Amino acid sequence: MQARLVAPEEGKDPATPTRTNQSRVLPLRIMQFLLLFLGVGIGFSILSMYMIRYFGFQNVVPVTQTRIQPCFKESSILDKWIRPPSPLWHTMNDTELFWRASFVPRIKEYPFKRTPKIAFMFLTRGPLPLAPLWERFFKGHEGLYSIYMHTLPSYEADYPPSSVFYQRQIPSQPGDYENLDFVIEVAEWGMMSMCDAERRLLANALLDISNEWFVLLSEACIPLHNFSIVYRYISKSRFGFIGAFDEPGPYGRGRYNEKMVPEVNITQWRKGSQWFEINRKLAVDIVKDDIFYPKFKEFCRPACYVDEHYFPTMLSIQSPHLLANRTTTWVDWSRGGAHPATFGKADITEQFFKRIFEGHTCIYNNQPSSLCFLFARKFAPSALDPLLEHASEFFGF
Ligand SMILES: *[C@@H]1O[C@H](CO)[C@@H](O)[C@H](O)[C@H]1NC(C)=O
Ligand SMILES: *[C@@H]1O[C@H](CO)[C@@H](O)[C@H](O)[C@H]1NC(C)=O
Ligand SMILES: *[C@@H]1O[C@H](CO)[C@@H](O)[C@H](O)[C@H]1NC(C)=O
Ligand SMILES: *[C@@H]1O[C@H](CO)[C@@H](O)[C@H](O)[C@H]1NC(C)=O
Repeated sequence: MQARLVAPEEGKDPATPTRTNQSRVLPLRIMQFLLLFLGVGIGFSILSMYMIRYFGFQNVVPVTQTRIQPCFKESSILDKWIRPPSPLWHTMNDTELFWRASFVPRIKEYPFKRTPKIAFMFLTRGPLPLAPLWERFFKGHEGLYSIYMHTLPSYEADYPPSSVFYQRQIPSQPGDYENLDFVIEVAEWGMMSMCDAERRLLANALLDISNEWFVLLSEACIPLHNFSIVYRYISKSRFGFIGAFDEPGPYGRGRYNEKMVPEVNITQWRKGSQWFEINRKLAVDIVKDDIFYPKFKEFCRPACYVDEHYFPTMLSIQSPHLLANRTTTWVDWSRGGAHPATFGKADITEQFFKRIFEGHTCIYNNQPSSLCFLFARKFAPSALDPLLEHASEFFGF
């Protein structure tokens, strides 16, 4: 007993070892070495696991948004379903993307804390001339919105990492709005490629499970109120905001084609501007639609403008009880002609915005309301400076 206890110490002193002690010292030394190796090994493994996770994460997501903090924690399988895709760029084609975007949980309650977000979807040709105004609108409301931009495939955005638009471009297709013949907004109004682009925006935004409401905007749109008001108005509404009305005459019912029967008959035919705000359910309905899409693609061609009829008609047939049948995007058709008025530097006056804010009544959640518009169009790039200058005065942000 004694010998065994003192043996390690004896090993340090070469003058006293006995034969029996030495034979005991040897296995102990081997064990010491083994333990040392084991310790070093475990330490090294932990270090390399940490490094793989750290650098592996950095490699998979090379240029992620700076606002998202890298997550070093072990992520659960559930996390992979909850976390928004980052970066937004992917190589899915429309068939794959729409299939993936049509996934819907059948259990209503989320088993995690979900803060519902508004997806702001910008359908643009390329640059967003009014971006600085939007930046100011979004400032301080991180976590309550996401941004998506559909541009021409040839356009490469160069927003700085500090911008809310940084890397928010989604993959577009070469076929989208090819013939550029417009001034501020996107061309090919009335072509199915326009609806394709809008469905693609919805599908990409649906990949983030936190997005609950989806707003379609153009590069010529501006926000008319501060973010808190917009968020509350949209989130508390029981109805989606999409223009949907039955218009007699050549520009309404006159565009209907009887070959759309039985999917769509003349009394079901609706018209409305394409600038909508809808909830997640309606967004999925649009992305998954294979009943109305082929009919509209084949039988609604100019002078039938499909972007004014497809979603309003389809949603009015499928979910009339979920629609407010009006848009929240103000526009001025009073000047007549095929396009609404565009406003520039000289138009940005207090009088002008009084006209937009006052003298309207609309129905909000079955009650009359004087707050009818959240956004407005169309604004030229020259309007930016006066808009920025007066934003707090006019819009409260
Ligand atoms: C997408 O890719 C799949 C598989 O390669 C193919 O079957 C499908 O037709 C493609 N869809 C489009 C729109 O190109
Ligand atoms: C938004 O505007 C409303 C009304 O103008 C105001 O009461 C509210 O304080 C504003 N919210 C923020 C966050 O500025
Ligand atoms: C159109 O379809 C709706 C719903 O099926 C039906 O109630 C309506 O009578 C139809 N209208 C015409 C003109 O056929
Ligand atoms: C919108 O129109 C549909 C008919 O297309 C109707 O059933 C629905 O009640 C309307 N929505 C509201 C809020 O009035």
